[in-house]
Amino acid sequence: MKNIFSFIIFAAVVLVILFFVSSGKKPPLIPNDERHKIITTEAACAECHAPGKAAPLKLSHPPKEQCLICHKMKK
Ligand code: HEC
Ligand code: HEC
Repeated sequence: MKNIFSFIIFAAVVLVILFFVSSGKKPPLIPNDERHKIITTEAACAECHAPGKAAPLKLSHPPKEQCLICHKMKK
């Protein structure tokens, strides 16, 4: 039972990624600046990228979890 659940979640994540890859919108890279270099967990992103904070996401922003699946650090 547990395995089936994991598989469904895994499949859903893959589908979401494929969807955005094929929709042609590329997620912007995470800027390699002072604000972003120090971040170690995704939970920290919401400190600034949540409604009412310093840099809120657009309403049309795709799923708002697991930022690092889509956004890679700029080298
Ligand atoms: C201390 C506040 C802060 C935190 C924490 C933070 N950001 Fe940001 N982020 C900003 C600000 C402000 C900008 C706009 C920067 C600019 O325009 O120079 C930005 C810009 C970005 C951009 C570029 C957007 C674009 O249009 O190019 C991405 C991607 C991003 N952040 C992702 C993340 C992710 C993922 C995390 C968590 C790992 C995170 N940020 C954590 C403040 C923050
Ligand atoms: C499913 C992939 C995906 C995930 C997960 C994701 N993003 Fe994005 N993000 C995108 C795409 C695609 C864009 C470009 C959207 C556009 O051009 O309209 C974007 C744009 C942005 C921008 C630029 C401003 C904006 O609203 O368009 C920031 C900042 C950002 N993302 C931060 C984050 C943070 C923080 C998280 C985690 C809370 C996150 N993203 C999770 C795909 C993703």
